[in-house]
Amino acid sequence: MSARGAFITLEGIDGSGKSSLVPVLEQALRADGLEVCTTLEPGGTALGQALRPLLLDNPALELTPYAELLLLIAARRQHVEQVIRPKLAAGVWVICDRFSDSSIAYQAARGVEREEIIALHTQVLGDFAPDLTMLLDLPAEQGRRRAAPESSLSIETDLDDAARLDFQRQVSEHYRQLAEAESGRIEVLAADAPIEAVHRDALKRLEKFRLRFQNV
Ligand code: TYD
Repeated sequence: MSARGAFITLEGIDGSGKSSLVPVLEQALRADGLEVCTTLEPGGTALGQALRPLLLDNPALELTPYAELLLLIAARRQHVEQVIRPKLAAGVWVICDRFSDSSIAYQAARGVEREEIIALHTQVLGDFAPDLTMLLDLPAEQGRRRAAPESSLSIETDLDDAARLDFQRQVSEHYRQLAEAESGRIEVLAADAPIEAVHRDALKRLEKFRLRFQNV
């Protein structure tokens, strides 16, 4: 295969249903004969896996939001260099559960200036960006109900319940602003619909994207 693969990312607040959408998109692309790699952040490389428990489950470290951001970006650079770019260059389609937009939404909600987060990404990743991002938009209250606290790890383990809800609301708002600013790349899906409907909607948008991407 000679054409470059497409880079697709999934975004949304905790409990928005990104992770269950990954295999749906993967299967649809594979059914059409495309080679697909699925990956995630934080994670996706040995470094990402090693950092994951430090970032998500280690209040004793007392990471400042800025240090947290720098670790996420270091792992992201490694992920792009080691996995994502080589796969895309080999014609493989890459589906990534969370990427830079997560840092813009979450670390801004943690208190880092949005512009600073964006500037750091530009410095570290240049103009490398997803070709398509699906944002699963869900009211924070519903995300809270859906996320299973005992099984899912979250960046805000240091907050109490009310503060967590408020945090997820802020993340949601940052995501909406991003989607407005980058409407050509970010598709906003209503994630409060039944899961089958969300998946159908996502597949329709994937089809539309493929027509655009494969014709350029
Ligand atoms: P993830 O494993 O995707 O959890 P979920 O299944 O809830 O989506 O992400 C773990 C947490 O890490 C989640 O609370 C979001 C947070 N996170 C950031 O704060 N910044 C980032 O750049 C990334 C990639 C994740």
